[in-house]
Amino acid sequence: MSEDIEDLDRRHVWHPFTQSADAPAPEVVVSGRGALLRTAAGEEILDLISSWWVNLHGHAHPVIAGAVAAQAAMLEQVVFAEFTHAPAARLAARLAALLPGDLDRVFFSDDGSTAVEAGLKIALQYFGNIGQAGRRRLLAFDGGYHGDTVGAMSLGRSSGYFQAWDDLLFPVEVLPFPATWRDDPEAGAREAAALADVERALDGTVAAVIVEPLVQGAGGMRMCRPAFLQALAERVHACGALLIFDEVMTGFGRTGAPFACLTAGVQPDIVCLSKGLTGGFLPMGATVVRQSVHQAFVGGGIKRAFLHGHSYTANPLGCAAGLASLELLTGADCQARIAAIAALHGQRLAALPAGASRPRQTGTIAAVDIGEGGYGGTAAAALKAFFRDHRMLVRPLGATLYFMPPYCIPTDDLHRAWDVLAAAAGS
Ligand SMILES: Cc1ncc(COP(=O)(O)O)c(C=O)c1O
Repeated sequence: MSEDIEDLDRRHVWHPFTQSADAPAPEVVVSGRGALLRTAAGEEILDLISSWWVNLHGHAHPVIAGAVAAQAAMLEQVVFAEFTHAPAARLAARLAALLPGDLDRVFFSDDGSTAVEAGLKIALQYFGNIGQAGRRRLLAFDGGYHGDTVGAMSLGRSSGYFQAWDDLLFPVEVLPFPATWRDDPEAGAREAAALADVERALDGTVAAVIVEPLVQGAGGMRMCRPAFLQALAERVHACGALLIFDEVMTGFGRTGAPFACLTAGVQPDIVCLSKGLTGGFLPMGATVVRQSVHQAFVGGGIKRAFLHGHSYTANPLGCAAGLASLELLTGADCQARIAAIAALHGQRLAALPAGASRPRQTGTIAAVDIGEGGYGGTAAAALKAFFRDHRMLVRPLGATLYFMPPYCIPTDDLHRAWDVLAAAAGS
């Protein structure tokens, strides 16, 4: 008797961010190649969102698959508190070389949420370790999303996703985010107002300010200008607090340069990474800190050490995937694809139908608003269905439709996606 995957799933699997009572049955995917996913029904679907923003170079990329297979045959896992291994040491060094300034100490974890939790705990303990235990306040931005663990939820409390646990979240002050778009006449005024709020909030009791640099992802692909982040960094550093960049989504080329801090020309103190870290192959996170931050944890007994970790910290398979993915990312072919996608987005955003508003773009991420509606609303469902009819995968965030494809997406396919967007906005 052949196995009925849909039936097994229906009876036993609990899917994320899904109301199973009215969501369509999940499609069974059997394989992927390039930007295409192949379903059990034999259909090919164009992945325009890099499968929740993780995939960089295409599905089942043979170079990364080969690196993971070779590592699996050698060493799959080892406790990372007492041992190290070549893939972890090499990946840490590679990340440090790509990130600006002295961001060169890497703490590995499991995903984006844990990369943020580690960053948050490091920032708070840092001030305790240097004798400034009074710095406990945390500042974040309106619409920011940093993950689903309790610390990350607290930082992202304004995202609108966490009502069920609102009473459990710890205090985080939320500042306005100066979201902007093409030809926005009020961008400067919004930035000035946001900076004034930042200045009012900053004082010697603030430990850290966290921001998704240039693009807030889950909050609706809300974008800000580099100048805002530069001004923010100046003020945060002047008051002696730490600036945390949550680059879980913006990292690994999405904004053009390898990291948004480079695109924005800003030196953060802590950078949280995940998603594209392994090219979309394995779950893994990394929190990268400046030498001065790490130094505060060196010496003075076990209590000054960072007593935090996960069973799979620095999993060798994830590190091997990360190394292979970074090799591809920094190669000339991938850099050319990133530039080509950014140029194509720019060209198509310049010629949108009237039904699409607030066109915005940062590197390979492009977004527009079509109609009205919140997360999981009917407008989003209709847009998603419209694209699915064209064998394309999108996940609108409320009224926001965005493209963030794997870098290998063929130019013709990306043009087709924009044609479907134009049809959806014009209809
Ligand atoms: C900016 C940002 N931070 C953190 C996270 C959480 O990452 P994960 O889902 O891997 O825990 C996400 C996930 O979408 C994100 O976009």
